[in-house]
Amino acid sequence: MGSPGANSVERRPLQRLPKSKAHRGLSPEPALRQVMAQFATGVTVLTAGGEDAHGMTANAFSSVSLDPPLVLCCVAKAARMHSSIVTAGSFAVNVLAADQQRLSEYFADWRRPDGMAQFDAVGSTPGARTGAPLLTGALAWLECELAQVLDGGDHSIFLGRVVATGRGSGTDALVFYGGGYHHVDGRARAA
Ligand SMILES: Cc1cc2nc3c(=O)[nH]c(=O)nc-3n(C[C@H](O)[C@H](O)[C@H](O)COP(=O)(O)O)c2cc1C
Repeated sequence: MGSPGANSVERRPLQRLPKSKAHRGLSPEPALRQVMAQFATGVTVLTAGGEDAHGMTANAFSSVSLDPPLVLCCVAKAARMHSSIVTAGSFAVNVLAADQQRLSEYFADWRRPDGMAQFDAVGSTPGARTGAPLLTGALAWLECELAQVLDGGDHSIFLGRVVATGRGSGTDALVFYGGGYHHVDGRARAA
């Protein structure tokens, strides 16, 4: 081993990084929630068909790749949706329209019934490729085969290979921002 010479790096005691003012006094979880609330997202309902059919509101959804066509969604390991997707080996992503806020609230409410009964109150048809319920009135939907499950802390990252897509007739999107729901007028795009 060489002795400290001209090229050796001077060792200084590790410095504590200054805490951001905004985070002082906050535990990391609320701070992260508050920061992530500044990121506007669409709102989806994930669905899975089969013996363990289920639906769940989710905004942790993203496109990943066009070739091959891949998307991802993040689902809490504690959510019933987690085992439903694993059991089905597939899932659908329903992109909600502006007038579907009540559906978002319903599929985020733990009191909704289990299994296919939870879809009785809402219109749906089984996806041709996966059997996952496709919600009537959604702006768009994607059917996915489960390609990979990655560990994401208290969530799992479900990577889905897109096997079918479709669009509804709606134009206005439901958006989640700042902890609340908002609408985006899609017709304004054409103006
Ligand atoms: C706007 C919104 C977005 C949500 N996004 C997610 C998400 O991306 N992943 C997740 O695991 N839970 C998300 N949730 C929470 C679940 O919808 C909620 O915990 C649900 O009751 C879990 O259902 P389950 O345990 O019956 O599957 C979200 C809730 C709301 C209102």
